[in-house]
Amino acid sequence: MTVNLPSPFKLLAYESLDSTNEEAKRLAEGGAAEGCVIWAREQTAGRGRRGREWVSREGNLYCSILLRPDCHAFKAMQLSFIASLSMAEAVASVLPKGTFVDCKWPNDVLVEGRKISGILLESQTVPLGGMDWLIIGAGLNINHYPEDVEFPATSIKREGGGGVTAEMMIETFSRRFLAGWVTWKNLGFQPARKAWLKRAAWLGKEITVRLERETLKGEFRNLDKDGALILLLDGEERRITAGDVFV
Ligand code: BTN
Repeated sequence: MTVNLPSPFKLLAYESLDSTNEEAKRLAEGGAAEGCVIWAREQTAGRGRRGREWVSREGNLYCSILLRPDCHAFKAMQLSFIASLSMAEAVASVLPKGTFVDCKWPNDVLVEGRKISGILLESQTVPLGGMDWLIIGAGLNINHYPEDVEFPATSIKREGGGGVTAEMMIETFSRRFLAGWVTWKNLGFQPARKAWLKRAAWLGKEITVRLERETLKGEFRNLDKDGALILLLDGEERRITAGDVFV
């Protein structure tokens, strides 16, 4: 199957790379244009958030989109929610009707409570907070998933999606991301924020948030206008911009 990505995306496909984010970074530093989509069938040094390894043998989707947003870095981070939402919609479209697909803050996609996809954002800012480049790396478990991980994982195959390929998923994901990106450019973050909240895992429930130096327990109240998690803690709202969520 050939892959057809909508303009302005331009596909760069590889059999094997260290990491598609790493290749995107090399291209960005070399002056590549916004819209390059780097795709590899396997990664030998796939990375997850917070320096974790992302197991990347053949059979799953590993891709990165290179963007050059013309805005402040904190705003560009909103695109990670558009990416995870797009991935959640792409996943739901190939699973049996009624399968529960939701988004776990900040950027994971869960199926029936197990992680199926993760997003890794990397960026280079310029003085005064603007951006040189932003890379949105996406990993999606299609045919296999890691067993020995802290948060239970799953794959499209395990959840009953038969005959799904990386080619199909990169196309669907890119098309949905493009639609969300265009809306974001025209209307801001609010439409994506609302759509993300509709799919949010554990909204209104007690959650545990592991930060760099402390662990907090409270009620997941909201996603604020910039994408921070609002946690109700001892009667006070706390704004969290980075962390890992558990129940
Ligand atoms: C996470 O920790 O949940 C984020 C995982 C992101 C993995 C993807 S796979 C494609 C891209 N290249 C990488 O090295 N990482 C991201």
